[in-house]
Amino acid sequence: MYSAKVDPPWDGAAWRPLARAALRAGVAPPDIDWSGDAQATLMPGPSLDSLPPLRATPRVPSDFLSLADAVLCHRDPQRHALLYRLLWRIAEGERGLLERATDPDVRRAQVLEKAVGRDSHKMKAFVRFRAVPGHDNTFVAWFEPAHYILDRVAPFFARRFAGMHWAISTPYRSVRWDGAALAFGPGGAPGDVPAEDAQEDAWRIYYANIFNPARLNPTMMRQEMPQKYWKNLPEAAELPRLIQGAGARVRDMAEREAQPARRRIPERVATPLPAPSEGLAAARRAASDCRACPLWQPATQTVFGEGPDDARVMVVGEQPGDEEDLRGRPFVGPSGKLLDQALAELGLDRSTFYLTNAVKHFRFDQRGKARLHRNPDALHVQACQRWLMLELASLRPDIVLCLGATAARAVLGPGFRLMQERGRWHALPDGTRVLATVHPSWILRQRDPAARESAWRGFLHDLRLLLPPSAP
Ligand code: URA
Repeated sequence: MYSAKVDPPWDGAAWRPLARAALRAGVAPPDIDWSGDAQATLMPGPSLDSLPPLRATPRVPSDFLSLADAVLCHRDPQRHALLYRLLWRIAEGERGLLERATDPDVRRAQVLEKAVGRDSHKMKAFVRFRAVPGHDNTFVAWFEPAHYILDRVAPFFARRFAGMHWAISTPYRSVRWDGAALAFGPGGAPGDVPAEDAQEDAWRIYYANIFNPARLNPTMMRQEMPQKYWKNLPEAAELPRLIQGAGARVRDMAEREAQPARRRIPERVATPLPAPSEGLAAARRAASDCRACPLWQPATQTVFGEGPDDARVMVVGEQPGDEEDLRGRPFVGPSGKLLDQALAELGLDRSTFYLTNAVKHFRFDQRGKARLHRNPDALHVQACQRWLMLELASLRPDIVLCLGATAARAVLGPGFRLMQERGRWHALPDGTRVLATVHPSWILRQRDPAARESAWRGFLHDLRLLLPPSAP
């Protein structure tokens, strides 16, 4: 009997040379103990890598190699032996083996591969980063995968959150990304991750706002978001309350839908939200009727966001101005023109961005014929939060650019201090990167030419972070 220890047991680069040596030495599958991660219980035998080769390395189909890489990440202690059995049979002449789905070894390998795929998908969906206090742009997350998938999934996070410094800790292994390379280390414990941060409130608000009680299907929900992940998801705290209230909310929605005339909709009623998957056009249609706060009445219309459905950058302003209110489009007045100028100066194309506002109706004081801009109150921002979160959930941008304190607080939470925290990357709990800077109208309000010039330079400096890293 030969013994083989794959170390680490999920690593294809560790398994392949051992399997190759065994195959070339003609060692049959029953003659190897693939002790893997259960080594301590086995009697050590002669090592495989010391055997002289008796035959040439056989050629193996590439789909076997990708199957093996996935299966190795499964926790099943028999997986190394299973893979070697498959490899042996292929080398012995069963070339089309992997196409025989009824073969018990092939079936078992496919089941393991699928379980690893599912686990990887869950990890991509349910990792939630928390900001590390006192460290700029640094985030950590705790996750408990069912299988050994960290090495497999880490490159996804490196691509998705390339601009952040982050670490993900699991019970068996951890990984760190410093903006340039991944470094793996030992496992950890849930307490390694800091307690709640302010952005979790925003995440809860987001989830409560996009939750559609009429679509509630707890079984499906548990399949998509299994309960074992709930404890690490800030939004999961909302679920029991939302589920409990769902019946009443659906009845309420049904009653409201039964009232046909717009005039009969009470002033403060929040229009039912479409699901994010229904897209931005559905969100825009629903918001056009919104009367969740009193601003709808004096305003001409709801000014919803606009831009491509696949925009990677979402720009959030404060509220529409006079011109935006009349034309029904965001950022078409003086602030929009200044923003256009800044983007053009940096070579950024506005038409690729999605532009919207924290508040969707124009708030103003009427002075004779003039309508003078008035800042929205917290209640207006709060009432509109559901639309902003729906836009975010429908678009799923890579980057959110907040212009001004109102936008930044609507996205990053009420504790955000614009002047201290502008011009650097922040992140939402799902990792979406957020940059906050001043509002163009603040630049326009600077009366002193030197102050205005300096405000403009600072604005351009902040926006430069939107440029790809290779650009000068
Ligand atoms: N200011 C904003 O914040 N948004 C607009 O759409 C226009 C001006």
